[in-house]
Amino acid sequence: MEMQKMKGEGGPEYRDSPSPHFQHIAAQDDKPAPALFSEYSESELDNAEVSRERYTSAEFLRLERERMWPRVWQMACREEQIPEPGDCIAYDGPAASILVVRGENGEVRAFYNSCPHRGMKLCLGQMSVEKVKCPFHSIRWTLDGKVDHVPARWDFADTNIDDLKLAEVRADVWQGFVFVNQNADAPPLAEYLGKLVPHFEGWDHGERYVESIIRRPIRANWKSCIEAFLEAYHLSGVHAQALPFGGESSTQYDVWPDQPHVSRFLEPVGFSSDQYPRDLSEQEIVELATKVVAGGEVEVDDLPEGVSARQAMVAAMRASYSEMHDKDYSDLSDVEAGDAIQYHLFPNFIIFRSLPYPFIYRFLPDREDPGLTMFEFYIFRPKVEGEEVPEVRIAELEETQSYADADMMPPWQALIYDQDAEGLKACQEGMRDGGDMPIRYTRYQESRIRLLHHTLGRYVSDDPSDAPGF
Ligand code: FES
Ligand SMILES: [Fe+2]
Repeated sequence: MEMQKMKGEGGPEYRDSPSPHFQHIAAQDDKPAPALFSEYSESELDNAEVSRERYTSAEFLRLERERMWPRVWQMACREEQIPEPGDCIAYDGPAASILVVRGENGEVRAFYNSCPHRGMKLCLGQMSVEKVKCPFHSIRWTLDGKVDHVPARWDFADTNIDDLKLAEVRADVWQGFVFVNQNADAPPLAEYLGKLVPHFEGWDHGERYVESIIRRPIRANWKSCIEAFLEAYHLSGVHAQALPFGGESSTQYDVWPDQPHVSRFLEPVGFSSDQYPRDLSEQEIVELATKVVAGGEVEVDDLPEGVSARQAMVAAMRASYSEMHDKDYSDLSDVEAGDAIQYHLFPNFIIFRSLPYPFIYRFLPDREDPGLTMFEFYIFRPKVEGEEVPEVRIAELEETQSYADADMMPPWQALIYDQDAEGLKACQEGMRDGGDMPIRYTRYQESRIRLLHHTLGRYVSDDPSDAPGF
């Protein structure tokens, strides 16, 4: 059989899976993928173990807060969340609350969300103002942070009025994402983003807008939460329903030696996992996938002669997104139309680059509890020429609620994220209560997790110059 012949082929030399590798699969697609998908990394990282304290100890959380978060670029908001001059949004980050402001000239600036007088928070959530005004003693600033008005100014006899200006934080924009960085010596955003910049040239999030955000607390460390999305290896345990078609054991994982902040995976649709107990026919793959998506038994037409499950599933997704977006996606490659193409930007940002996954994720650790994270799930849509971008809808879920309650994703997808949330809770408890065994990572399928910890180690190091770019 064709499938048998393909097994195990492709990918880096040391990979020893019986499943065909993403490269082997993509090379046979009808609509070939752009060149950036035909490269794969051969890199290996040797940090096979870390101490579980990285996930469970308040002391390590403090190290991250002091040494890592203030020195990395963090996605604070989307540009379309502050479209007009005077629009402000508070980004309550892991190390600081940052006020992002759209200025008179349209430029985006960021300041500490704290009054230089007695520290009052200047913005809770969002606001639209002509001047920023402190709710405590009413000091006012222009949108570029200069002092505009000080009540009873004479009484600041011991203070240089200029010192009352808002404390600025670095801000920069990439594809509509506003990033902030508290550190003056950190490398510029474009350098920090590394491969993301060229790899997203053909997939501009500036041409998209965030339609909805689902926020849900997860009872796990922020790194565990991210790591659950850096590998597909956990399908057999957590999302077994996707084993017949999810391409889990064919997934490509990339970490690059010169990219401390970026990794990716390419997960091909329409291929069954080598964890699935038996070989499946192409027809069975489509039937099992349809059953999961439809939520029960449905009649599936026989695949036409010579059509693979992958071809059929890619065609179905291309058609459904063309209709949903009223756009012609017929020129899009099969990889971009059907696969899970996903990048991680250190520390807490995940971004996809394919049609069926119009998502980004942001993970915000709790300030005190190493076992608690706010997981934010952003859903995007293409902008439509001449139409105004609607205000983003935000769903705040309790930790016990289902993603289905947000009513923003289909039930089969909500199930996947519910499964992840449940699994993460149990994982955190196990980490906390499991003695002092180290946490171990596989070499290939968890290479992106190794990179996360490798880079994190450089930031929390006693020598500040170990951090990338410092
Ligand atoms: S604390 Fe802001 S004006 Fe006093
Ligand atoms: Fe998962």
